[in-house]
Order: sequence, then C-alpha cells, then structure tokens
Amino acid sequence: MIESQLRKAASIADLKRKAKSRLPGFAYEYLAGGCNNDVAVHNNRMQLDNIYLKPSYLKSCDTVDLSVNVLGQRYAAPFGIAPIGLSGIVWPRASEFQARTAHEHNIPFILSSVSTTAIEQAAELAKDNFWFQLYPPKDLAMRSDILKRCRDAGCKNLVVTIDVPSLSWRPSDIKNGLGIPPKITLKSIAQSALCPAWSFATLNSGLPEFATLKPYISEQLKMKETAQQIRHVLREVVDQTVLKRIRDEWPENLIVKGIISAEDAKMAVATGADGIIVSNHGGRQLDAAQCPAQVISTIADEVKDRTVIMVDSGVESGVDVGRYIASGAKMVFAGRAFMYGVAAFGYLGADHASFILYAELKQLLEQLRCSSVTRLPNHLV
Ligand SMILES: Cc1cc2nc3c(=O)[nH]c(=O)nc-3n(C[C@H](O)[C@H](O)[C@H](O)COP(=O)(O)O)c2cc1C
Repeated sequence: MIESQLRKAASIADLKRKAKSRLPGFAYEYLAGGCNNDVAVHNNRMQLDNIYLKPSYLKSCDTVDLSVNVLGQRYAAPFGIAPIGLSGIVWPRASEFQARTAHEHNIPFILSSVSTTAIEQAAELAKDNFWFQLYPPKDLAMRSDILKRCRDAGCKNLVVTIDVPSLSWRPSDIKNGLGIPPKITLKSIAQSALCPAWSFATLNSGLPEFATLKPYISEQLKMKETAQQIRHVLREVVDQTVLKRIRDEWPENLIVKGIISAEDAKMAVATGADGIIVSNHGGRQLDAAQCPAQVISTIADEVKDRTVIMVDSGVESGVDVGRYIASGAKMVFAGRAFMYGVAAFGYLGADHASFILYAELKQLLEQLRCSSVTRLPNHLV
C-alpha cells in the first residue's frame, strides 16, 4: 500500500502536495512560508529557473559519479539536509528520521540548535554524517557546554548561522499563534482535529520540546516561560567578534551559514571559516534579499580558493542541485524538501526525498553527458 503511494510521489512537488493534505494549516504554513510578502521565496524559484545547463551530446560518457569530497569526508551525493528548527511541530521525530536517512544514504545532516531532537540522539543516528547548527547562546558557559556536547558526540562540522539578527516577520505564523511564546488557539485545535495522522503521531510522541536546550531550562517553567527564556538565551547576534570567539573555541571545521554577499563571505573567511553556506534562509528572514542563485558565482570567484562553498535555498529537485553545483557550490542543502518527505510519509518520506534528489541528479548528469558532479561547472551556460 505505502509502496504504491511512494511510487506515485515522483517529485518533491508530489511530496509537498501530500504533506499539505496531512498537516494542520499552521504547521504547513510554518514550513512552507517565507517572511513578509514571500517575495524572496518566489525569487529563489525564479532565479534557480534562470540557470541553464548545456549538454555535450557528442562527448563519450559511460558512467556518472555523484560522490563528492567535502571538508575531509566522502559523501555519496553533493546534497544534504538543512537545519530545521521546531521540526517536531511539523512532524513528530522528523529530525530523527532525517538523521537516519543521512546515515543510510551517506549525506550530511545538520541538526538545528532549536530542533526537537537532542544533539546526542541525532549524532547516534546520523553517525559520521552529523553536523550541528549553532545559534550561539549569550551565556558563555552554556555555549561552551553545547560545543563540548557536540565534540563528545563526534561532530566534526559546526554550522554557525549569521542571518538571524532579528526574529523575522512571518504574517502567517503570527496569525496562527506560532510566535514566541506560541499560543494554542481554537483555530489550531480545529486544524489539528482535521489531520488525524498528525494528531495521532503527536499524541504518541508527546508535545515537542527544545531537546538540545532542555538541560539549561528550569523544569518548573511553563511552555510560555520556556519559549521566552529560549528567546532570551539565544539572543546573541553573530558579528565578526562573536564568530572569532567561536572560531577560537571550536577546533574542528567551522562553517558560516547565511552568507548572501561577497563582503560577508570575505569577512567569514578572514575569521577562519573552513566553509560557507550561501543562503537567504529559504526566503524566511529578509524579503528583499538577493537569492543564492544570483550571487553564488561572484562569491565563489572571491573566496573559493580559501574556503568550501556550499549553498541552500529553493532546492526542489535534483536539477536544482545540479544548477547550484554548476554555479560553484560543492555541497547543496535542502530544508523544506526533506521535511515535505517526512510530513508525507514519515521516515520513508525522508528516505524518498533523498532517493528522488539522487535519481534526478543522476539522470541530469546522464542527459548532460557529464561524468562527475565535479565537472558540472563546465556545463553552465
Ligand atoms: C521551518 C523552517 C525552520 C528553519 N529553522 C532553521 C534553524 O533553526 N536554523 C537555521 O540555520 N536555519 C533554519 N532554517 C533555514 C534552513 O536551514 C535552510 O536555510 C532553508 O530551509 C533552505 O531553503 P529551502 O527550504 O528552500 O531548501 C529553517 C527553514 C525552515 C523552512
């Protein structure tokens, strides 16, 4: 039964449709939405569609190789799973499912600081493919403890997100009561009642909590106070000074996420970033932001000899992964695509999203007659 449904989901768009039918409105809007007027979300799609690739039909090409070496590790494909905060609101245990998929498909998985799965549990599931995304806490002891937990869990790649100096303005989340603190409204109760699979999974797993941050939060606090405390402790704005302090404290790979200008890229590299993720946060922070597809080539030209260029925002297919790689990225992350998979089919859906991206990218290479993803830049028009 589930196999035949999976066969019918042949694209990320199919997973998105299925996810929409299974999620309460507030959870779907939290996942799919952008900020302000959703301009950046639409532009991500439009600018990716404007990247063209040219085939080499008369060249011989017997096999295609999708594997890549990134920051000292070989992955089966040049794509990975981006960090998603409050993942358990979208689907209970979503981050656990994604961590397992990452291990089984040998792709990277980045756990969000504000995920509903803890560092230790995600690392156990993703194993060598576990990366951690840090929203640096203001409290230095807490920050050091989180970094120690990452090291103890075997994490080799720390991703520091710099593009949230302010909580963004998301009209649908505000109207749905998904601000901080979250409110349970009559509307959200009614929406949940209409989605039995989501409600059942949520009842089974218990209410989502900020699992990584739990040890630092007093158990006596109610949901409202917890959310306020989290908002307070994670208030650190990441400027170059803060980034430098984290660099000094973290001996393994440091990756800076949220770069959308060559100036920030150069400053991140000067501060010692081993890698950068060119990103506009999937269009969720700055509605007037440029898109990675518009800036990645310029940024790559500036810093590619000194750091590893990665990217995310707007990926909805293996062709999109190919477009970004051709434009200069070594690794491409997708956020919503994997979450649509989980919301559509649970664990099998995370797996299926990875399968779709892989199959589409492989077909793209065959069509272009391109023997390796590392040669994709030769096909950029
Ligand atoms: C629901 C949601 C929650 C997110 N939470 C985080 C987060 O906690 N930390 C972070 O660095 N990025 C977060 N992001 C941004 C993603 O990591 C990634 O940059 C973005 O999803 C890429 O765009 P895409 O969804 O179009 O692939 C979130 C994105 C979404 C959609």
